[in-house]
Amino acid sequence: MSCIIAKSLFKSYNSVNAVDGIDLVVKSGQVFGFLGPNGAGKSTTIKLLTTLIQPTSGELTILGINAKENPLEIRHKIGVVLQQPSYEPSLSVEKSLEKYGLMWDVPRKIRKERVEELLSDFDLHDIRKKKTDDLSIGQRRRLQVAREFMHDMELLFLDEPTIGLDPSARRKLLDFLKRKVKDGLTIFFTTHVLTEAEYICDEIAIINKGKIIAVDTPDDLKNRFGRKKTIKIHLSEVNENLKNLLSEVKDCKIDFNSGSNITIHSDESEIVLLKVLQILNSNNLVIEDLSAVPTNLEEIFLKVVNESNESNN
Ligand SMILES: Nc1ncnc2c1ncn2[C@@H]1O[C@H](COP(=O)(O)OP(=O)(O)O)[C@@H](O)[C@H]1O
Ligand SMILES: [Mg+2]
Repeated sequence: MSCIIAKSLFKSYNSVNAVDGIDLVVKSGQVFGFLGPNGAGKSTTIKLLTTLIQPTSGELTILGINAKENPLEIRHKIGVVLQQPSYEPSLSVEKSLEKYGLMWDVPRKIRKERVEELLSDFDLHDIRKKKTDDLSIGQRRRLQVAREFMHDMELLFLDEPTIGLDPSARRKLLDFLKRKVKDGLTIFFTTHVLTEAEYICDEIAIINKGKIIAVDTPDDLKNRFGRKKTIKIHLSEVNENLKNLLSEVKDCKIDFNSGSNITIHSDESEIVLLKVLQILNSNNLVIEDLSAVPTNLEEIFLKVVNESNESNN
């Protein structure tokens, strides 16, 4: 079943198309990653999908419910953790959790149990009596995410939940989320950190300037964009004729970027490198330094984003 179906969703603010025609289908029972640079439209999309704001145009069905007709019904079935901090300064950590449970009409017994579970799952035990005002940014963020798990839900939206968390808290949260998905929850998760998306997501959409520019599994994204290797060669001196000499090498893209450096991108890096070396050798061009590295997901992400920027301009 698909729990999110968006068709041609637009949201504009004055002249800015924050969300610029998004089509999206999210299957139940998975973590769907929404990955993009700052200002890409991630938060606006989450606000649209959670019915906190209305689209300028487009169709939206969440958990089989029409978002325009029944936004409140949707809000009862989902959880949302927005990007901006939200907390009640004077309440203690445990009281915050407790109050959130009350708000959602969670029966007393279950409420008590959940508070204890979440204090432990989110490492908040030692600071349970502390006022939220006195917490660090990371602790507050943990509390903000934790309290959303006080109530039952089918679908959870998290807008950059790991910002402000240290690496260990980050990993713990991601593992906690993975467990919840195993138990049947669906998560829509935004981040600008690729490794995070790769670690937790079953499917990733890359968004840039309000438009989705790729949707795939992390593995397929790697295969589509990441079989490439980048070869960098630093020569001691450059021959005027170099461009000509190397133009006969096939299956690669060569940048004669700056001075005596050349960068080669290729899917067939072994063969290409061999040919390039032969040519350099037979022309007495001395190599000072050489490296060949697999293009990583971070580079894929930047590449996809850059290509979409170029094709827009
Ligand atoms: N309430 C608003 N009023 C005007 N512009 C907005 C508003 N919310 C977002 N934007 C603009 O929409 C674009 C997308 O923003 P946002 O969805 O917050 O991106 P992200 O979460 O990916 O960083 C940005 O250019 C931002 O300035
Ligand atoms: Mg945002």
